[in-house]
Amino acid sequence: MSSSAFGIDLGTGNIKIYNDMDGTIMREKNMIAIINKTTLFAYGDAAFDMYEKAPGNIRISYPLTNGVIADIKDMQTVLRSFVNDLTQKGKYNGADFYISVPKDITEVEKRAFYDLIRDANVKAKKIMIVEKAIADGLGLDINVKTSQGVMVVNVGFDTTEISILSLGGIVLSKLIKTGGQKFDEAIRNAVRKEYNLIIGGKTAEKVKISLSSENAPEDGIIVYGRDIVTGLPVERKIPTDLIETSLNENTNSIIDNIKLILERTPPELAADIYRHGIYLTGGSASLRNLDRLINRGTNLKVNLTEDPISTVATGLARIINEDEFRPLAYSIEGMSPHR
Ligand SMILES: Nc1ncnc2c1ncn2[C@@H]1O[C@H](COP(=O)(O)OP(=O)(O)OP(=O)(O)O)[C@@H](O)[C@H]1O
Ligand SMILES: [Mg+2]
Repeated sequence: MSSSAFGIDLGTGNIKIYNDMDGTIMREKNMIAIINKTTLFAYGDAAFDMYEKAPGNIRISYPLTNGVIADIKDMQTVLRSFVNDLTQKGKYNGADFYISVPKDITEVEKRAFYDLIRDANVKAKKIMIVEKAIADGLGLDINVKTSQGVMVVNVGFDTTEISILSLGGIVLSKLIKTGGQKFDEAIRNAVRKEYNLIIGGKTAEKVKISLSSENAPEDGIIVYGRDIVTGLPVERKIPTDLIETSLNENTNSIIDNIKLILERTPPELAADIYRHGIYLTGGSASLRNLDRLINRGTNLKVNLTEDPISTVATGLARIINEDEFRPLAYSIEGMSPHR
């Protein structure tokens, strides 16, 4: 019997785990709730449900910040809890772990992902690292081993990773601190400034997501919040164009960074990038008009995909299951992919 395996995309907002035993991808919030300083109270979506609502003795936090591990102990607890949940049925004798990491972080930060799994008490037999953008490309059904000049832009929660892939490697990569969370903050700030209204982060995210839904309201979106002047809870209709305008600064920063990478791309790859267009992934790829804005800013075609939140985990699944792609994962000892 071949050994079982997990493919883990540790996002700052969502953790996605591909489980080789049943071929499914689990997705939950990457959050932890600790009660009375030391005791685990909830994790994942259950912790998120309490976020912004819990009393002072419950600390709720994201263990990852800006794509790197901010609290290793919390992250281990969350990971261990999910692996326990996934392995409850049947006997678990350990598994191989494939974890995706951003390219543009330090070797020490990369190593922390390895240490995390090694020390999380999840019976890891083998720990393999995969560059996140490589997994993203595979999840998009691109043969990253043979393709040249592929640009992938993954817009997540805390970060956006812009990468140029070619022949199984990453030619250029930049991780910027802009993503869904910044969009939510921008909406909150605009609503406070224009309407003297304080709304929570969850409300801002709901507004953002309903804006990008197919049947988005034309004129405005109703929100509930607290009026700064009266201090009372109120209901207000926020015009959609105010919401859209509030996002400009952040979307522009993504576009500027894409251009910066394009300017640095070796000319031999530029033709391929032009032909393929840009591939947009990550949960925030669904943000209304983001594809159109990037297209307008770069003059390149922008490709969207059905389930942009899961492409990295789907790519990890392919690395686990397809012999051809397995060499794209590497062990930390060497710290560089053997191709
Ligand atoms: N329909 C939608 N429209 C706009 N944003 C969306 C939509 N659906 C999800 N999002 C946003 O996607 C983000 C989460 O995406 P994802 O899971 O890819 O991030 P992550 O992997 O956790 O973060 P990172 O890659 O930055 O570490 C959240 O900010 C969420 O609000
Ligand atoms: Mg991500």
